[in-house]
Amino acid sequence: MQSPTAPAPSPCSPAPVLEAELELSALSTARTAAGFGVYVHWPFCASKCPYCDFNSHVRHGGIDEARFRAALLRELEHWAGLAAGRSVSSIFFGGGTPSLMSAATVGAILDAIARHWPIVLGAEITLEANPSSVEAARFRGYRDAGVNRVSLGVQSLDDGVLRTLGRLHTADEALAAIEVARRTFQRFSFDLIYARPGQTLEAWRNELAEAVARADEHLSLYQLTIEPATPFAELYARGRLKMPEGETARAFYDLTQELTEAAGLPAYEVSNHAAPGAACRHNLLYWRYGEYAGVGPGAHGRAVIGDLRQATATERNPERWATLVEQRGHGLAETMALSPAEEADEALLMGLRLAEGLDLDRLAAMTGYAPRAPALTDLVRLGLIERHGHRIAATAAGRIVLDQVVLQLASALRAA
Ligand SMILES: C[S@@+](CC[C@H](N)C(=O)[O-])C[C@H]1O[C@@H](n2cnc3c(N)ncnc32)[C@H](O)[C@@H]1O
Ligand code: SF4
Repeated sequence: MQSPTAPAPSPCSPAPVLEAELELSALSTARTAAGFGVYVHWPFCASKCPYCDFNSHVRHGGIDEARFRAALLRELEHWAGLAAGRSVSSIFFGGGTPSLMSAATVGAILDAIARHWPIVLGAEITLEANPSSVEAARFRGYRDAGVNRVSLGVQSLDDGVLRTLGRLHTADEALAAIEVARRTFQRFSFDLIYARPGQTLEAWRNELAEAVARADEHLSLYQLTIEPATPFAELYARGRLKMPEGETARAFYDLTQELTEAAGLPAYEVSNHAAPGAACRHNLLYWRYGEYAGVGPGAHGRAVIGDLRQATATERNPERWATLVEQRGHGLAETMALSPAEEADEALLMGLRLAEGLDLDRLAAMTGYAPRAPALTDLVRLGLIERHGHRIAATAAGRIVLDQVVLQLASALRAA
């Protein structure tokens, strides 16, 4: 398919064809400029946390790790055909709980990725881990297999809260896992959930101060979201969870920005904080709208195949996914070509989450679309976005109403 900006080809002169080809190559350069990553989803957890709606499953009868490992390796082979010619700049093992995998499985997956694609020197290889002592004991094995960054799901540093969140680890175990991570990996991060039911601002100030003191160069701080069809949603509907809302939720957010900025860990994305240069490169690739293969149950991918970006998603149920892979080499349930307009919507949605914002020139080169100038001027006048040359970024006020800002800009998109 032709880019909306490419000139109409003329049947009597070869020159416009050449121009169209040049436009097409500029377009594909813009589309692939943010790099290529591989996401591997491990869909199992030791227990299901009552707030979580990730594609994670508990199997009391045990997990057939060899079967899932073989299926992941086969699906990677399928992706090697779909996204040939790329170099891998980041790999991310997410879940679920990837730290339930043996180091041998992680190593086999990394070896397979390295057989299929060249790996960029210094590529970031992250594994999400739960901070129990059993899992921390596997960290050396992961490092020896090639993992160079872990992201720990600490969630809280208070034992009572951890019990309410249904976590299997204690605060002491989490602190010990942080220390093992510090000794073992080049880089580590941990996650906390805040704005929880009954939490006071003072309690969060103390907990965050301790977290910042324990952190290295990266922290993920998520406001608790009530996800539909979770036990927390049921409790919330019955009035049993009193969530900080409106002004109070805003005060939690503001306090979080104030403390992390003072500690040299400002937000580079809505919920992610890092010292300069220490952002998670794999997640940056999503927000900068790069390409990524997604393998494992319920994994999403984005890859420019032919002239269009394809959005892929695999079967979510782990056993059905494994059966599909065994039958036909992949568990893809959906492969949808995105129109340039859909691509532009997605790129806006992702890019405006970042403090660095979005490059409008790249958006136009990639999709042929740009927001109309008056819409940009209005949002700047309202103090919701800032414009620096060809980049736009949400302001602090804009981040609070980010959904509306994205909607305004998306509805103002026109052929550039
Ligand atoms: C895939 S999950 C976690 C990985 C790992 N299984 C764990 O729980 O430690 C990624 C992160 O999302 C956050 N999260 C999950 N559900 C959430 C919710 N409902 N509200 C806010 N944050 C949530 C948690 O901080 C979690 O660590
Ligand atoms: S928060 Fe993590 S451990 Fe808990 S159910 Fe979700 S993925 Fe599993």
